[in-house]
Amino acid sequence: MKQFLSVDDAGNFQALVKNALGYKAAPFKDSLLGANKRLGMLFLNPSMRTRISTQVAAKNLGMDAVVFNVGQDGWALEFEDEAIMSGSTVEHVKDAAPVLGKYFDILGIRTFPSLKNKEDDYSELYIKQFIKYSGIPVISLESSTLHPLQSLTDIITISETFKEKRKPKIVLTWAPHVKVLPQCVPNSFSQWINAWGESNFVITHPEDYELDQKFTHGATVVHDQDEALKDADFVYVKNWSTYEDYGKIYCNDPRWMMTRKKLQLTNNAKIMHCLPVRRNVELSDEVLDGNNSIVTQQAGNRVWAAQAVLAEILKGQTH
Ligand code: CP
Repeated sequence: MKQFLSVDDAGNFQALVKNALGYKAAPFKDSLLGANKRLGMLFLNPSMRTRISTQVAAKNLGMDAVVFNVGQDGWALEFEDEAIMSGSTVEHVKDAAPVLGKYFDILGIRTFPSLKNKEDDYSELYIKQFIKYSGIPVISLESSTLHPLQSLTDIITISETFKEKRKPKIVLTWAPHVKVLPQCVPNSFSQWINAWGESNFVITHPEDYELDQKFTHGATVVHDQDEALKDADFVYVKNWSTYEDYGKIYCNDPRWMMTRKKLQLTNNAKIMHCLPVRRNVELSDEVLDGNNSIVTQQAGNRVWAAQAVLAEILKGQTH
């Protein structure tokens, strides 16, 4: 593996899931694989789970991880080619990324979208500039449009939880939120679940919250949440802002919040969310604190997803 930006980089991702579960069973079995190797982790935006789980994963493989909060501590970066840098940006990624390539063996980047210009965000300019100029493998720690470490984690969590000999029904449901949020998690979840192909996948959201079909193609989309939830084995709850009329909040109807009453429509579904979650806005306390919630198990699995990905890249570097 040379980079990890989407499901397209995962190769045989069933093997990746198996390796991740292997690390969950024996976290230190490859504790020398990353000896004398360094992971740089650049955050242009906040994070708790991604930051810590990836650091723990690197440590389990014997790697050193260095975290750098670009937004707080670094020079303001310029990403546009041929920019005249007479404004607020101090350093071009063309100059900064090759330096990072000298310090590290693998680079992880978190960059959120602006949610102002769809074309810019969906071009993934920021992470692509790091790939172009760093000269070392780059891992997405969540980019403008996708969150592959989260989605790999989600497949791991579903795989270890669902043991019946049939395909589970998985429902991705939109939920209300007070802020304008990216489409990264639902895009990425849709992309990975579609590529996995081992489920009956349904997406439900209010009218005009359609996601990019590039990621959702193959899923059944319904606008009646109650109908969608019927017989679900897993319900993934997540807010996103509009994609077509980009980055807007059209609806904040609290009736879309996941509640215990709605859980009763499902097949005793397990409830998932990537976290952080707005309690009693996206999901009710009774659902999050109830026995059906697997959000903590899910977040815990972030370590094994990151460890499996780092290990694949390290193995590629040592051969
Ligand atoms: N789910 C997730 O990526 O969490 P953080 O933003 O805390 O990393």
